[in-house]
Formats: sequence, structure tokens, C-alpha cells
Amino acid sequence: MLWQTLNAAQAFTLSAGALIEVTDAEPVSASAIATAVTSAGYDVRRVSIPTGCADAAILTEGLTAQSADVRHWSSLAAARTARRQGGVTILLQPADVYSGLEGLSRTLRKEWPESVAFAWTLPRGGGPLVVQGLRRGYPDGELNQSGELSVAAPGKSLTPPSSLPGSTPSVWLVTGGARGVTAACAIELARQAGGTILLAGRSEVTPWPAGLPETGDIKILRGLLVERSRQSGARITPTEIDRTARNLLAGAEIRQTVASIHAAGATAAYIPLDAGDSAAVAAALSQAQEKWGGITGWVHGAGVLADKLAADKTEAELRRVFAPKVGGLMNILEAFDARQLRHIAFFSSAAAFFGNKGQSDYAMANALLASAGRLLARSAPDARVKVFHWGPWAGGMVDAALASHFEAQGIPLIPVDEGARIFVNELLGGRRDQVELVVGEAWATT
Ligand SMILES: NC(=O)c1ccc[n+]([C@@H]2O[C@H](COP(=O)([O-])OP(=O)(O)OC[C@H]3O[C@@H](n4cnc5c(N)ncnc54)[C@H](OP(=O)(O)O)[C@@H]3O)[C@@H](O)[C@H]2O)c1
Repeated sequence: MLWQTLNAAQAFTLSAGALIEVTDAEPVSASAIATAVTSAGYDVRRVSIPTGCADAAILTEGLTAQSADVRHWSSLAAARTARRQGGVTILLQPADVYSGLEGLSRTLRKEWPESVAFAWTLPRGGGPLVVQGLRRGYPDGELNQSGELSVAAPGKSLTPPSSLPGSTPSVWLVTGGARGVTAACAIELARQAGGTILLAGRSEVTPWPAGLPETGDIKILRGLLVERSRQSGARITPTEIDRTARNLLAGAEIRQTVASIHAAGATAAYIPLDAGDSAAVAAALSQAQEKWGGITGWVHGAGVLADKLAADKTEAELRRVFAPKVGGLMNILEAFDARQLRHIAFFSSAAAFFGNKGQSDYAMANALLASAGRLLARSAPDARVKVFHWGPWAGGMVDAALASHFEAQGIPLIPVDEGARIFVNELLGGRRDQVELVVGEAWATT
């Protein structure tokens, strides 16, 4: 990922006298912005909710001291009412707080091609800087005190070193690491780095029922369970059959991951844990560190999807998506001191970097992980911090239907073995000054 500084851009133009609404969500900033923008010759109106009638709307919802899900949800809700043919929406967020509103602006530009949305990251007290952004028509990026804008470009993926530096035994926490593509990465990590790998996920390790043939195919398994319940005379609903089948497959996948890590020569333990539950995270991580020693590496791969267009998205859906990624991030950072970590890896998505239709919440949550990665790289300089903006993998949450959707768009899937190797090579041996990586074929034009 490359960063460059702009002092002219013209991603949009606003003529002098244009009507600009500034939301009052964060009143101190709103007031400073309104004064500066009025002095610059625009016609300013302060509003609690944008009317959708102005030439531009500047949204201060992202600058409030609210929790991450409230800030991001209220920004999305305000952007919905600001939406207007040809209108410009500017979403503001602070530079020193984990935020991911560029995930929203990038998604809205795909979902609402008739309007223009950009997210600007401001230094504390930097509200008046928006005048430079408006005059120069800045795209997404981080404004500095001189009014210049830093923007990120995906760049070329670096070739990882062929031999990795020797590493001391580590205790790894891998949230979401017992299943899906993060499990493949945890197994490759075990091969290359060894140590103790603590896998955390919500699923229980449900034992496989005696006498039931083993299968990894959910359709076959449902059929076997139906047959079994018929034979036993038990009346089980299709919903219960489906739930049982999913639990059995989850348990089998977890056992398989643990066994593969052991086979690779490392130690593995599974911790049933909802990363979004702060009390459970604090208790589980304190017990784990007592038993296994201080955690020295953290891979955050927990995530769920709840795809829906921004116009229809509900707050409950956004909260569901934020809970494992953003709630999990905050809960884990509260449970131990990040300065004890030598390695930090966050699983983000190319959706954070390019936006993706139907994924405004997911893109924001992942963009927030990236902002956390950038800030942690500064506050924990001894750690190698890597944020992987993955394109779609041939596994995990990409099921057969999604895989054919990507293939129809000409987007190749990341083979699981290859993705896992890229992950480990970058985490153990990649350049320390390259925090973010976009991995996989870019889908910028889709
Ligand atoms: N697959 C892809 O193409 C792709 C592309 C871009 C980014 N990613 C990112 O890579 C990560 C893994 O994705 P995947 O495709 O492997 O998805 P997946 O197969 O659905 O796996 C998600 C993992 O997250 C865990 N998880 C979900 N909610 C959790 C919670 N509240 N607490 C603890 N663990 C939780 C799941 O375990 P339980 O269900 O047992 O909790 C599972 O291990 C995600 O962060 C995703 O955003 C994936």
C-alpha cells in the first residue's frame, strides 16, 4: 500500500455560493466548520438532519465521542437523508480514533453513482481544514494541518522474503482461527513459526454422534440426520436438523484445525469465545495467559457478513457485522497491553479499500481495522503490524454461489494455500513500514 500527498485533486467542484448543510451531531466542530466555510464564500445552513436539498452536506456524526457502531451507523443514516442527484456528501472522522468511514464513502459511490461521497480524516480541532478540501475537491484521505491530503493506493504486493528470520517461541491468539480461511492461516503459521496457537470462536466442539457416517457435505449430513431421526421415531423440525448439521460440521472443522496444528509441530488449544462479549473476552484471555504465558502475537480473523444495500440496511445488521470485528478489536485491546505483542494481523477485505455494493457496514468495519492497524503500528513500534485487505478466497465465507458471482465478474479467487503462505510470509518477514496490503486481484471497477 502506497501513500501519497495531494494538494490539488478536483474529485468534485462546488461553485462559490453553493448551499452547504453542516450537521450538528458534534456541535463544537460543526460551529468551527460553519464559520470557516461561510468565510470561504459558501452559503451554510446548520441542520440536525440533512434535508437532501443542499448542494453539499458535511456530516459531523463521525466526530462524536459515541461508540464505534453508533458513530458509523449515524453517519450512514445521515448520508441516506443527504443523498441527492449530483449532491456532494462529506463524511468526517478524527485521525486519533479508530474509524472506517472511507469504507462507507467507497461503497456509496458504487451504490449511488448519481451522488458523490467522500470521507476525510481530520486532525483534532481541524474542522476549518474542510475549506481546503471543498476548494480543491479532495477525494477520500487524511488532511494535515497544511491542508494537504494523504491518500492510499493499493500499490504492488511486495515479494516476501524467501527465508524468514528465526523467531522465539510465541503464544498466538487467533480470533476466528478455528474455522474458515483464518484456520488455514493458523495452520501455516504453526508450520513456519511453531509456538502455542490459541484459537477462539463462538462454536462449541460438538462431538460427532456414534454410528453417524462422517461427511463434510451439509446436504448429505442433513439427509443422514433426517434418516436417523425417522428411524428413532423422534420428531425433529428442518430448522433443528439444519442447526444440528451446522454444529456438527463446526465441531469437526475445529477438531481438524487443532489436529493439523499439532501435526505441524505446534501446540493448539481451542477457546469457545464470542469476541464481541467484553466480559467473556477479559475472563478467557486472563485464564489463557495464566495457563500458556503472555500472548505475543494476535491475528484477528473473526467476522460475519449481513449484506444489504445502504438504503435498506438496519442498525441491527450493522451492529451484527461490527460485533466480532470492531467489538472484538476493542475488547481484546482492553484485555491486555498491545505493547506486549510482537506480531499483529488484522483480516480486512478489499471491500474496505474499494467499497462493495451491499457491504457498507462490512467495508466500514474493515476500514476501521485498518485505521487501528495504522495507529497501533505507531503506538507499538516493536510489533510487526499487518492489515490484509483480502480479495475473495476460494474458501471460508465465499460459498459456491458467491464464488460463481466473483468468477462471472472475472475476479479470480485466492487459492487457500497461497493466501495462507502470503499471510505468514508477510506477518513474519514482510516490511515493517508496510502496514496495509491489498491481496488478490483488484475489483476496483466492479
Ligand atoms: N473468505 C474471504 O474471501 C474473505 C475475503 C476478505 C476478508 N475475509 C475476512 O477473513 C476473515 C475470515 O473469513 P472467512 O471467509 O474464513 O469466514 P468464515 O468461514 O465465516 O469464518 C469466520 C470466522 O470468524 C469466527 N467468528 C465469527 N464471529 C465471531 C465472534 N463473535 N467471536 C469469535 N469468532 C467469531 C467464526 O467462528 P464461529 O462461527 O465458531 O464463531 C469463524 O472462525 C473474516 O474477518 C473476513 O472478513 C475473508
